[in-house]
Parts: sequence; structure tokens; C-alpha cells
Amino acid sequence: MSELTNEIQRRRTFAIISHPDAGKTTLTEKLLLFGGAIHVAGAVKSNKIKKTATSDWMEIEKQRGISVATSVMGFDYNDYKINILDTPGHQDFAEDTYRTLTAVDSVIIVVDIAKGVEAQTRKLMEVCRMRKTPVIVFVNKMDRDGKDPFDLLDELEQELQIHVRPLSWPIEMGVKFKGVYNIYEEKLDLYTPSKQTVTESIQFKDLNNVELEKHIGEDLAEKLRADLDLIAGVYSDFDVNTYLKGDLAPVFFGSALNNFGVKELLDCFVQIAPSPRPTLAEERLVLPEDPFSGFIFKIHANMDPNHRSCIAFLKICSGKFERNANYKHIRLNKMMKFTQATAFMAQKKETVDEAYAGDIIGLPDTGNFKIGDTLTAGETLHFKGLPSFSPEMFKYIENADPMKAKQLNKGIDQLMDEGVAQLFTSTFNGRKMIGTVGQLQFEVIQYRLLHEYGAQCRWEPLSLYKACWIESSSPEALENFKKRKHQYLALDKQGRDVFLADSSYVLQMAQQDFPEIKFHFSSEF
Ligand code: G4P
Repeated sequence: MSELTNEIQRRRTFAIISHPDAGKTTLTEKLLLFGGAIHVAGAVKSNKIKKTATSDWMEIEKQRGISVATSVMGFDYNDYKINILDTPGHQDFAEDTYRTLTAVDSVIIVVDIAKGVEAQTRKLMEVCRMRKTPVIVFVNKMDRDGKDPFDLLDELEQELQIHVRPLSWPIEMGVKFKGVYNIYEEKLDLYTPSKQTVTESIQFKDLNNVELEKHIGEDLAEKLRADLDLIAGVYSDFDVNTYLKGDLAPVFFGSALNNFGVKELLDCFVQIAPSPRPTLAEERLVLPEDPFSGFIFKIHANMDPNHRSCIAFLKICSGKFERNANYKHIRLNKMMKFTQATAFMAQKKETVDEAYAGDIIGLPDTGNFKIGDTLTAGETLHFKGLPSFSPEMFKYIENADPMKAKQLNKGIDQLMDEGVAQLFTSTFNGRKMIGTVGQLQFEVIQYRLLHEYGAQCRWEPLSLYKACWIESSSPEALENFKKRKHQYLALDKQGRDVFLADSSYVLQMAQQDFPEIKFHFSSEF
């Protein structure tokens, strides 16, 4: 096997997603402990932003600043190179998370046994489904009382719209929690409260062995056997290819806080989770072994006004990145060299000499990059990004300092390229509207316009239900629609037609009255 193939095949690049408080940070931290990337619990500070009151967003930004270092956490585990991509816990930054999901090869979903599937998990799973990303579910907090595990499996199937297959099975929960039977490794993992690791892990291929009674008592042994019989009857055997296609999610049970079930999850994960997968470009399917290529999925601005540079995060889709080599920036049609690219190993940023498909590197940027930009060894490729979704909140943005109109426009332009929010321009009156997924983003934009561009903006209320991208196979029908609805039309940043519906009723009526027009709720169709 060539060095390139070997390096690619040992990489596992993934994100952990969950509803806030399900235990994502705790699980991330435990995974880092296994990888030797950190040595004490409590070292992962990112994601705690969600606990800050929404009004205190400066604090949030400060913490986001800190979290640059933890945005990507790379470490070696056995023969594998693990890259965990962090996702913001706060739902107002959901767009960030969607974009991060374009850069991962698989996902671990954390679900709280007591709460089951929650809103944010459902939404993020939609993105995984769209992209056919393989997912593993970790059911957390088994040391607490929660839902019946069988009911939870049903809920996962229904709510996440994916088939599931338990690969471990809990023996009781809450104060009576005894541990799990690890179906994947055919082991009995016994839990002792307050101990920080799996206390006893016993190979147990045949559950009819009377030894089982010795470990967990007669009643629980009987129940475990019955449960596993039921699982074998209801769920088909675990098939790794169905998982890799994104159609089947293996499920593990454990307690991240107690470090129980985490190593088992990791050991199974490295074996079954995909190494970097082929990436679809407009021109062709790019294979991981192809010459170097990658795309920018995230831009992190430096909040310090004295240091205006940003970090652009590049996911390497194929080949090997080398420091000081010449790469082509496709949109700018320009060759570029990177002497200061950083790798994210063990929470430290360090200059990288080489990196491989699957890795994420940070490129210092002074305005060359937009989200979705492609870099290659020379070939013209455009990677397909994630579509923009209709924002949920809209406001008119007005210039509050007439002397600084230019700065304001430049600021808006750059912040939108960074993916902070979406800009729509009314074709009726030329006014600019900003669409976001949360109130916080308006505050972030206002602050950054002032501090980074010296521009002042004012928000004016705008009550809209949705922005829909419109198209039609009949140019006349489209023209007719645009004429009739001219007050409600806008262009997005790429100049595509958008219909602004101020209520679901208006949208419904438009759909009914104009059957030749297609209304899309995301920008890629
Ligand atoms: P998040 O990133 O998904 O938002 O969740 P996080 O890891 O911050 O966990 C949320 C809370 O749940 C934390 O408690 C954490 O200690 C707790 N937790 C995580 N895993 C388990 C588990 O397996 N069992 C139990 N019982 N609790 C768990 P907190 O009090 O909100 O925060 P902290 O003060 O402990 O940091």
C-alpha cells in the first residue's frame, strides 16, 4: 500500500452532534483522554457558550475565539488518526454546524436517555440524511433514569428516520445500572458507580453460560437473555455496508461522565467508520487518492481589531497538502503558497508541513477566501457545498452613518462571504435585508460592522415567514409571477430570484395560484 493510501485509510474525520446538554462536550473530552490528547478532565472549554445568556453575546464571541483551537481536535489512537470537528452548541449558530457537516465523513449523535431525540438533533440529522453521512448513536447518561431502551430505539427510528441496530445493551439504568452487554465485541462490561472506567470487561460469547448469573444475578440475567433474543428477532444483524450508506445507525449505551462505554464506542468507531470518502465536484467525483484538492467550509474571524486576519478552515478532499507548494485558488484563478498553514493536533495549533485527505488545516487569510472556495493542485474543480436554507428571522439593515456607506457595504459583503448570515436585496425598492437563524447573529453583525469596518448599522423590523428560491420551466410563467408579486421579490447574494412570503398562508396561496412556479426552501435544487 502506498504511503498516501495508508495515510488516508487511517483517518477518521467526524463530528459529534447533539441537542445542548446531552453530553457532547463530556464525550469529546473522554475521547480526547483516550487519545492522550488531554490528560485531565475539564480541559475542553468550547461549547459551553450555550450556557451564557443570549444577551451576553460578547462573552460568547470571546469563547468562540478561544474555541478556534478546539474547532478541530486531531489525535492518534492506535493506528488511527482521529479528527473531531467541533460544532457550536448554541442553536443560533446552527448554520455553522450545517457547514461543518460538509467536512466530515461520519457523525456520532449523542442522545440523552431521559430526553430522547430533541429538536436540534432532528434538524442536524436532516442534513446528515441529505448527505448520506453514516451515523452512530451514543445514548448517554445511563447512570440516570430514563426511557425504556426499546422505546428509545423506536423513537430514534421514527424521529431520525433511520434504521437502528443496538451494538450494546444496557442492564438496568439509573441507580441500578449494572453495565452493558457489548454485542459488537461479545463482552460483558460491568459498571461500578463512581469508578471512572469500565471496571470489568469479560468476554462472554455465550449468554446461556450460567456464569452470567454470578455477575448480574438471576433476574437480570434472564431479562438480558430475553432482551437480546428480542433484539435478534426484531433487528437484522449489523451490516457495516448499510451503515456506510447512511441507512443504518448502530446504537451504543453508556455514560460519558463516568467514562463508561466510551472506549467501546471508540474501538468500534475506528473499525467501522469510513476513512475519507469520495467528494462530488461539479466536474467529477474526486477520489481521496487523487492529487491535492480541498474546500473552505468555515472562516473564523479574529475578533481582535488589531489583528484583522481570519483563519479559513480547509477540508482536504484528496491527496497530500504540502507546505510551500503552489496550489490553485479556483475562484480567483490564482496560484497560492501557504507557509503558515496550521494543523490542529491535541488542541494546539502548529505549523503543518504535510497533511492528507481527511485532515483539516487552517489557512491564515486576509480576505482571499469565501465559504465554498476550492483549492487544487491545478485541476479546475468546484466542490458542491451545502445549500443555504431559508433563514428564520429577517431584518432590514440601514446605514446609520451616511459618511460610512462604503465601509458598511464592504462589511456586509465580507460578513456574508464568511457565512455569518444571508443577504437579500429587494428588487422592488433596493433595500437590503439580512436573514439569520437566530437573534444573536444580528448583534454579532452590528458589533463586527462597527469594530472591524467602522460602519454603523440600524435594524428595522421585518416580518417574514420564509424566503423561497423560485424557478419555472416556463420563462413566461416566471415573468408573470415576478410582475404580480413584484413587491415581494428579492435577489440573494448570487443573484438568484427569491420570493419573500410573509405568512404560511401567503405562501400556500402563491403555490396554489401559480402551479408552474417551483418554490424551494433551500438554495440548491
Ligand atoms: P453538551 O456539550 O451536549 O451541551 O453537554 P455537556 O457535555 O456539557 O453535558 C451537559 C451536562 O450533562 C453536564 O452537567 C455534564 O456533566 C452532564 N453529563 C454528561 N454526561 C453525563 C452522564 O453520563 N451522566 C450524567 N449523570 N451526567 C452527564 P452540568 O452540571 O450541566 O455541567 P458541569 O458543571 O458538570 O460541567
